[in-house]
Amino acid sequence: MSTEPPSSEICPNCKGSGWELAENGTGVRRCRCLDAARIERLLAEARIPKRYEHCDLDSFLPNHESQKKAKILVLRFLEKYPQIDAGLLFLGTCGVGKTHLAVALLKQVIKEKGDGGLFYDFRDLLREIQASWNPVSQTSEWNVLKPVLEAKILVLDELGANKPTDWVRDTIAHIINCRYNDKRLTIFTSNFLDNPAKAGEETLTDRIGIRLRSRLYEMCREIEIHGVDFRKEIKKATFRY
Ligand SMILES: Nc1ncnc2c1ncn2[C@@H]1O[C@H](COP(=O)(O)OP(=O)(O)OP(=O)(O)O)[C@@H](O)[C@H]1O
Ligand SMILES: [Mg+2]
Ligand SMILES: [Zn+2]
Repeated sequence: MSTEPPSSEICPNCKGSGWELAENGTGVRRCRCLDAARIERLLAEARIPKRYEHCDLDSFLPNHESQKKAKILVLRFLEKYPQIDAGLLFLGTCGVGKTHLAVALLKQVIKEKGDGGLFYDFRDLLREIQASWNPVSQTSEWNVLKPVLEAKILVLDELGANKPTDWVRDTIAHIINCRYNDKRLTIFTSNFLDNPAKAGEETLTDRIGIRLRSRLYEMCREIEIHGVDFRKEIKKATFRY
């Protein structure tokens, strides 16, 4: 457990010392505000974008059968965590709540289970890895990759959103394989479906390659989310003219 002092106001329980009297009055024990401070720190370190900070399970209101199923799957995941052997893959078109659910799950793991986790948009992750790439040693900075490889739970948002060059495929394969071998859980979201509604649209396999797609079958329970674009609905409701 962290020993950092409580971050915001001074805790009335321990007056900021981090220690409180034990219930039976015979000695001291760590104050529970240290747990609160730790969770605050883990949430801050999870890199959840401001735009998604509001996302939690209570505020996810399913408007399609598949959204109901997806929410139940997340609840079951949380119930079983950490005794869980597969991550999740949310597939679906724009605005159906994939990122919302992934962030809600990540926040719950941190708040309820006390485990650290990380959110990364796939494109940002590749950009950061690319920026740290050393052409001489042909390696990327460990300080970018380490947290991604070691996070207990990683949300990789928008899988396949980048143009699938060989470098992109190799990099993502490396990350996914390492996490898979270490039995770490990954939650993916992607706009690319296996069987797109319109003929000629790219599939997830087109974007990430057949080997990686196959690996995901093994690593994740997957669910297709359908429904209307929630952003459109929100906008309609909030425009004032
Ligand atoms: N069922 C829902 N209940 C409440 N809010 C929702 C729901 N679905 C989506 N939202 C909200 O709508 C917005 C868009 O949802 P989200 O970003 O999760 O969509 P997405 O499926 O990830 O879309 P994209 O593929 O474009 O990334 C967010 O602000 C999210 O909080
Ligand atoms: Mg999204
Ligand atoms: Zn305290």
